[in-house]
Amino acid sequence: MCKAPGPDGLRDAAGRPMPGPMTATPPLLTLGATSLIGGALCAMPDRPQLICVSRRPPPAETDPRDRWIPADLAAADSLPVREVETALGLAPIWVVAPAVEALARTGVTRIVAFSSTSRWTKARSADAAEREIADRLARSEDAFIDACDRLRIGWTLLRPTLIYREGRDGNVSRLAGLARRFGVIPLAGSGAGLRQPVHAEDLARAALQVLDAPATRGQAYDLPGGETLSYRAMVERVFEGLGRRPRVLSVPPALWRAGFRLAGRFLPGANAQMGARMEADLTFDPGPAQRDFSWRPRDFRPRFPA
Ligand SMILES: NC(=O)c1ccc[n+]([C@@H]2O[C@H](COP(=O)([O-])OP(=O)(O)OC[C@H]3O[C@@H](n4cnc5c(N)ncnc54)[C@H](OP(=O)(O)O)[C@@H]3O)[C@@H](O)[C@H]2O)c1
Repeated sequence: MCKAPGPDGLRDAAGRPMPGPMTATPPLLTLGATSLIGGALCAMPDRPQLICVSRRPPPAETDPRDRWIPADLAAADSLPVREVETALGLAPIWVVAPAVEALARTGVTRIVAFSSTSRWTKARSADAAEREIADRLARSEDAFIDACDRLRIGWTLLRPTLIYREGRDGNVSRLAGLARRFGVIPLAGSGAGLRQPVHAEDLARAALQVLDAPATRGQAYDLPGGETLSYRAMVERVFEGLGRRPRVLSVPPALWRAGFRLAGRFLPGANAQMGARMEADLTFDPGPAQRDFSWRPRDFRPRFPA
């Protein structure tokens, strides 16, 4: 990652040199720059220059070091980028995998892409739509690896657990929103199932560390957060992060399921399986990531504005 930029540098589709300040490291092509991890990466002061791809117009205020390209990765062939060596795949792996061929043609020789531990945790779900997500992740990971191997691109796959970034994610921040609104959070059963929430900034940093760690080439890593705690304890920490006394209501699982049939349609993205999973341990071994690129994520102590 820390090679000096070539004299020919970065060019657009017409072959013109791209504007941008000179930096000590070449820019990183960042696919899914508006994702949770992308947002955390963009906010890091000590990161390299980025070329950010998004279907949405660039935010009003972007870092002057960066370049934003409004583009759909489904049409990656027409990305106006040339001679970028390294890409970060922060969009869903099923969006990144089909774009690998086009990335190779732009000169990319190294890709760090994110998948999800849902590949493992949803594979045996009672919910067919969740099993399909697990299957799609697995198929897309395979397609990504096959394409990279065929095109001699050095790849690394990172599979985070539940990602949070205070105020921005649909998991932990959604719980904080419920706690703020109702003052109490219901749990299905005791909420004894273990979790390892991981902060988006730790993942952004991990992607950069991986680029400097040769042992990570051709490897996939599960990336749990720095602390393993029960779903109930996770919810209590959310209250603490709001500066409130934890108030958790245990609902019998059968009642939870019945409640979901009535209320589920008002909670987009939620389903009854989430309740069933609150009793299940969803934990992963950080060992390989610690060994290969010093993965040291933070404990789960989110802080929300009052
Ligand atoms: N959220 C979680 O708890 C979680 C857990 C484990 C793993 N992950 C994985 O971690 C990564 C980041 O997760 P996330 O939840 O922040 O993001 P996400 O919702 O999975 O992905 C959204 C990002 O992908 C980009 N994108 C999607 N389709 C695109 C297309 N056709 N062309 C261009 N860009 C496209 C979006 O860009 P625009 O909309 O700006 O175009 C946005 O930046 C993903 O790989 C995700 O699968 C997420």
